[in-house]
Amino acid sequence: MGWTVALQQYGEKWRRDRTYFHQFFNQTAVENYHEVQMKYTKVLLKRFYQSPDDYRSHLRCSLGGSILEVTYGIEAISEKDTLLVLSENTVQRCAEAGIPGTYLVDIFPILKYIPSWFPGAKFRRELNQLGKQVLEMRNKPLEIAKTSLKNGDARSSVVSALIENFENNPDRPDDYEEIIEQVTGVAYIAAIDTTNGVLLHFVYTMLLHPEVQRRVQEELDKVVITSKPDADKFNPERFLDERMPAPDFAFGYGRRECPGRYFADNGLFIIMVSILHVFNILPFEGENGPELPPKNHFDSGIILQPKPFKFRIIPRSPDAIRILEELDY
Ligand code: HEM
Repeated sequence: MGWTVALQQYGEKWRRDRTYFHQFFNQTAVENYHEVQMKYTKVLLKRFYQSPDDYRSHLRCSLGGSILEVTYGIEAISEKDTLLVLSENTVQRCAEAGIPGTYLVDIFPILKYIPSWFPGAKFRRELNQLGKQVLEMRNKPLEIAKTSLKNGDARSSVVSALIENFENNPDRPDDYEEIIEQVTGVAYIAAIDTTNGVLLHFVYTMLLHPEVQRRVQEELDKVVITSKPDADKFNPERFLDERMPAPDFAFGYGRRECPGRYFADNGLFIIMVSILHVFNILPFEGENGPELPPKNHFDSGIILQPKPFKFRIIPRSPDAIRILEELDY
């Protein structure tokens, strides 16, 4: 059931769709998305400042919002955005369905492998409903993007570029609509829970290892202060000069290696350094003093991620407060 690049078997069609995907998410192409990634990073910082308790939802909307805008041209800066809420709810339901060790995109193959004699019709029915919801999550943003294109009020995006290219090309493949579905659907679905998991781990790890947090902040301060006179200006792009080696193993190996890794790397890097540039991530102050979450405090959901935990996220200095107050997007 090849409804996204990620689920197609190796072969001609997979190679073709992956090439289309690569056109938009290769190392050079993702440079075009910095501005959008910056915008959602600013939104995130402001939200951390204004309502830190909702950190899970803020984190989810940061890279999730940027992938929606890049792929479909849909601006999703409201946390109540129906598409973001739909994706959050879908991921939550998948986790509750208790299918360990799978990605969201794997839901369909799982359905296929549940034999008809498998006891528990309810479980099967629930999984089928979940499958429908995952499809809705894939199709809805595409429908919105197509309607905007028809109305002439679409932002430029992967969808708009693909549609324009195909419609102006008399030699376009017959199944071009399907290519658009596959390429854009996978970008959204593969990006959203993977990157969110990484961001949750980031906050949790910084909380448990304050000495590492401090070291990173010292390094950041050195870079900002020594190489830029405009140290107070909010400009996370200054951090994009490839200093840190990427943990490449997380993206798989060989010909199926994650083609979204450049988008993920850039987006996560901007978010992480921006958070540490202006905030300290500190233990929650309980009645008996500082409280840290337990170690290995993880949910065994679709993607391993820390269970909800309490912490404080506080601006690092008066300058940081000023930056946060003045942020707009
Ligand atoms: C930290 C974030 C991410 C991690 C850890 C991650 C990890 C992975 C892994 C392990 C695979 C399977 C590789 C294999 O089978 O060997 C994969 C596949 C894939 N990822 Fe990612 N990914 C991330 C973010 C993204 C993003 C942001 C996008 C889209 C912009 C994306 C798009 C894809 C696609 C399309 C595939 C399927 C490739 C294929 O089957 O040919 N990923 N990813």
